[in-house]
This record gives sequence, structure tokens and C-alpha cells, in this order.
Amino acid sequence: MQDAEAGAGLIEFNREAAQEEERAGTAKKVFIKTFGCQMNVYDSERMADALGAAGFIGTDSLHDADLVILNTCHIREKAAEKVYSELGRIRVVQDARRRAGRDLTIAVAGCVAQAEGREMALRAPAIGIVVGPQSYHRLPALLEAYAKSGKTVIETEFPAAEKFGALPAPKHRPAPSAFLTVQEGCDKFCTFCVVPYTRGAEYSRPAADILDEARWLLDRGVREITLLGQNVNAYRGLGPSGQPFGLPDLLAALSDLPELKRLRYTTSHPNDMTASLIAAHRDLPKLMPYLHLPFQAGSERILKAMNRKHTMADYLRIVEELRAARPDIALSTDVIVGFPGETEEDFQETMRTVEAVQFAQAYSFKYSARPGTPAAERSAQIGEDVKADRLARLQTLLSAQQAAFNRSMVGRTLDVLWEAPGKKQGQVSGRSPYLQAVHAEGELALLGRITAVEIVSAGQNSLHGVIKNWRTLAIC
Ligand code: SAH
Ligand code: SF4
Ligand code: F3S
Repeated sequence: MQDAEAGAGLIEFNREAAQEEERAGTAKKVFIKTFGCQMNVYDSERMADALGAAGFIGTDSLHDADLVILNTCHIREKAAEKVYSELGRIRVVQDARRRAGRDLTIAVAGCVAQAEGREMALRAPAIGIVVGPQSYHRLPALLEAYAKSGKTVIETEFPAAEKFGALPAPKHRPAPSAFLTVQEGCDKFCTFCVVPYTRGAEYSRPAADILDEARWLLDRGVREITLLGQNVNAYRGLGPSGQPFGLPDLLAALSDLPELKRLRYTTSHPNDMTASLIAAHRDLPKLMPYLHLPFQAGSERILKAMNRKHTMADYLRIVEELRAARPDIALSTDVIVGFPGETEEDFQETMRTVEAVQFAQAYSFKYSARPGTPAAERSAQIGEDVKADRLARLQTLLSAQQAAFNRSMVGRTLDVLWEAPGKKQGQVSGRSPYLQAVHAEGELALLGRITAVEIVSAGQNSLHGVIKNWRTLAIC
């Protein structure tokens, strides 16, 4: 799963609910800063929806806000430190605000809140609310409780089913490509990973709710949906008529919605790449030819110590089957270097795996000991310098593969879904079927449309193309 600092997103709020307060100048404003994976991005939007229903509007300035929410990530080191340093910055604003007779409520949400919320609240009394990922629907009630008591409110229970049922229907204005969380949590317990502890047990939403949410998005111009889950291909929900429903069933049902043009899903575990899911890549034209499939390490010994429950042979067989089903499929992955006990020879197995598979893109990380995980207790921790050296060598190889993949697109014509204005005036940006960023000269009227684009140049992270007939397209 892509893990990036998503940055402070100004989310389009439920203006209908908050419009009157806005007119009267009484609307409260919330600033949400999102760290971590796509599921946090999705959750931030849903928090905004829950608060919109309670009369809040969004702001992209901390200095304007009555409520600031840090939606945090705990996956690698310095997670809590990052939050403390953000808190320090916010405290200064909070102090100034209080001196001026107004307040600023600070809420910490997300995986750090879940894992270390209590300790954080003790160490940083400026925090008003600590809310774990399964309790966002309770935000308005938590705010009220905090306003009444003036004491830090901590809510870190795990009622996943309740959360999805109780959050209001999405209200934000979606972009042409939207995320939709279908599954949460993880039962796999890889020995390096905090997710099973921060997100709890696997839970799959009922298909009827997912289809309703998809229709809502499509009615508002969405054309591409990425289904999200920490283990999305372990999805086992209830079908529309109460029957067991797996991810292939869900993908097929969504494919039948005519306004939907593109489907993706992330993140997958190799053990849940079933034959029928692989066949979906052959049979469903709307399912894009791209798959993020982490392998983590190339050495069997390390995979075992990681409790990944798959072998390298399993992974390579899945890659082969995927390529037989969809020959042009672009593969992406996650890799960890410097897991406790990893030798140079183990690391070479990782390099050989990357050579064998040829990835279109990848995320690679130095192993980071996470509190409470079994691998953190192992004595054979690897030195920082060794990790950094292995990561540099791995990233050189992965970057070369990504650049080669991008270069192979030059001269080809790709279908691009235009998603946003480009960085430069008069440009639009979008994504190829292989999830590459593509830029071209074009009007904003193209946003939400898919056009054929001739790729004229390729960089490390993006492609540049020409939409030959965009003028005609823009007016028809
Ligand atoms: N459910 C996803 C992973 C989500 S975490 C999956 O199984 O693929 C995203 C990525 O962060 C992981 O794939 C892993 O490569 C990396 N990661 C997780 N814990 C880590 C740790 N302790 N140190 C370094 N990288 C880690
Ligand atoms: Fe973490 Fe492993 Fe679960 Fe992925 S499958 S979320 S890496 S425990
Ligand atoms: Fe981070 Fe939690 Fe996502 S730890 S990667 S925000 S599931």
C-alpha cells in the first residue's frame, strides 16, 4: 500500500449542512492533516463528512481552524516523534488563540492514536481528543464530551462494523478517481508490522453498502474507483442476496455499473491471490492492468522469519499466472531491507527477485523496529549503515526498472483519465492504465474524461503526452 505523507488535504465538506452557519459566520472550521496510506486519506474524507454533518466546514489553514485533526501513521519509526513535533507547532497557535479568547481543539486520530494515544495524551495535555481509526463516526459526540468536561477524551475501541454503518454517506466532492474502503484490518501478523494491532481484525463491508457508495460516487462524476483494504484481496463480504462474496465477485458486480470506467484494488497479499482473482484480470476489461503485490524479501529464510506464510516460489508462480492472464500487467511491490538476521546473501536474493520480476514501480524501506511486534524483540538487529547501503543498492535497481518501464511507453498511445489541473498553466494531469502520472496540454473540460494520448517523453516518475484531438473533445 502506498505510504506517503498525503499532506494537508483541504477536503470538500458538506457545504449544504454547513452553509447556513457559514453565511451567519458561525460555522466552525476544521483542518485535517493526513499521514500514511490511502486508507488514512479515505478516512480523513469520512471524518470531514461526519464533521460536515455536525456543522463544520473545512479550511486549509491551521490559523483559521477551530479544530485540527492529525490523522497519523505508525508504520515506521519516528511516527510518534513526527506527531509530537506537529503538536509543538500547533500548541503555539493554540496558546495565541487562547490568549485572544478563542479556542483550538486538537485531535489525534489514526494508527499512532490507536497504538500510543493514552501515553500521548499524558505527555501532551494540549491534546483534547484521541480517536482510533474505528471510531470516527463518534467524532461529533467526542467533541461534545470534550467541550463539556474540558478533559482529554480517549476513544480507541474496535467496532469496525459500527463505524461503517454509522458514518454519514460521503458528502465531499469527489475527484474523478476515488478511493473506496471495502475491507479493514489484518489477521496475518507479519512479525515486523503494527497494522494488526492498530487496525484490528479483518472486517469486510457488505457488498450492498459498497455498491451504494460506488453509485453515489459515480453520480458525482467519478470514473475510476480504487478499492482499499489493508488486505483487500482477503475481502470476504456478504453478497447482495446474503451469499458469500469474494473480491472477484465484488469486482464483477462493480464492473457492471455503466458509468464506472476503471477499477483498481490495493493492497494485496500473495496468499489471497486466488485463481478466480487472477482470472478477473483476464475477464474484466475495466480492471486496470496494474497490481501492487508486496513480496517484502527474496530470501526464504527471511520470509519465514517475517511470518509471511508464502515462499518466493509461490510469489513467482503468481506473477507468472498474472502475466498469462493479462500479459501487459504492470507490477508494483513493497520491499524491506535489513530485517533482523538478514545477511548479504539474503539481500542478494531480494535483488535477484527484483531482477527476475521487473517491476514497473516499487516502494522500498529500511526495516524499522516497531514497539510490540515480535521482530523488534530479536537480537540480530541490523546496523543503520548496512540498511542504508542495501536500500541504496536496491533503489538504484528499482529506479532503473521504473525508468525503463516508463521509456517503453514512448511512441505508444495510452488511455488517460484526466484527474486534475497540471502543475503548469494550460496542462492537465492524469493516469495511464498502468498508474503512471501523465501530463499534457489540455483544457480543464477534460477532467473526468478518458482520452487517447500519444506519449512523447518519459521521466523517472511521469510521462508527457499529446492529446491530438483535445480541442474537438473539449467541445463535444
Ligand atoms: N497490508 C500491506 C502492508 C501495509 S504496510 C501488505 O501486506 O502488503 C505497507 C508497507 O510498509 C509494507 O508492505 C511493508 O513493506 C512496509 N512496512 C511495514 N512495517 C514495516 C516496518 N516495521 N519496517 C519497514 N517497513 C515496514
Ligand atoms: Fe502488515 Fe503483513 Fe498485515 Fe500487510 S499482511 S498489514 S504487512 S501484518
Ligand atoms: Fe500507516 Fe495505519 Fe496505514 S500504520 S500505513 S496509516 S494502516
